[in-house]
Amino acid sequence: MNDELINCININKAYKQADEQLSVISNLSFSIKEGECIGLIGASGCGKSTLLHILAGLDLPDSGEVNFNGKNISLLDRDDRAEFRNQHIGFVYQFHHLLPDFSALENVAFPLLLSGKSKDSSLIEAQNVLDKVGLKSKENNKPSQLSGGERQRIAIGRSIITKPSSILMDEPTGNLDNKNVDNFMNLVLDLSQDLNISLIIATHDKNVSSRLDRLLNLE
Ligand SMILES: Nc1ncnc2c1ncn2[C@@H]1O[C@H](COP(=O)(O)OP(=O)(O)OP(=O)(O)O)[C@@H](O)[C@H]1O
Ligand SMILES: [Mg+2]
Repeated sequence: MNDELINCININKAYKQADEQLSVISNLSFSIKEGECIGLIGASGCGKSTLLHILAGLDLPDSGEVNFNGKNISLLDRDDRAEFRNQHIGFVYQFHHLLPDFSALENVAFPLLLSGKSKDSSLIEAQNVLDKVGLKSKENNKPSQLSGGERQRIAIGRSIITKPSSILMDEPTGNLDNKNVDNFMNLVLDLSQDLNISLIIATHDKNVSSRLDRLLNLE
């Protein structure tokens, strides 16, 4: 893990509130190496989710560069950012955001179907991924037929199926008990190492942050 994956230079982001500008991120610079596991910490409202959205190209900084593998994604238009995201970035949220009417298998396959892959090969790859996250036996279950911990494992499966270089996670363990937090961290750290995926995890949970390579405090 010597190569630089993400390099942010002087990012600024403010939101308009009534007549005032609320500065959330000011002159933030940092870089993340391939395979590195980073925690984003700091009090509620300090800008963790805002930064994750900017890194994912879901939102744009007001100024500054967000470079992935040397490419400034802030210069891409909306469609190109969406394609970039589909190819290079996985996302896991606090609430799993799985599609309720689809099975675990179909949920995991979804990003491949979106990218234009055939249904048959997408479902075969999704089976391999379900195996990796330890839930092959639940492939036909709908999200409502899974436990909270299992839903987050499905969400992880969905995030890795496109073989991203990084997974961005926003409070991914916010709804899990301690035992499930440990299981979750074991799984994502193993996957990160096996697949050389960098993790960027916004968290308030010490059981999460204590296991990461490095913490970025946004306050
Ligand atoms: N779309 C928006 N419009 C205006 N203000 C916003 C918007 N999104 C976020 N903010 C403000 O920006 C600040 C940072 O919000 P953000 O969601 O990034 O915080 P956070 O660190 O993720 O907090 P938490 O730990 O509670 O999730 C907050 O003060 C929030 O109210
Ligand atoms: Mg947040």
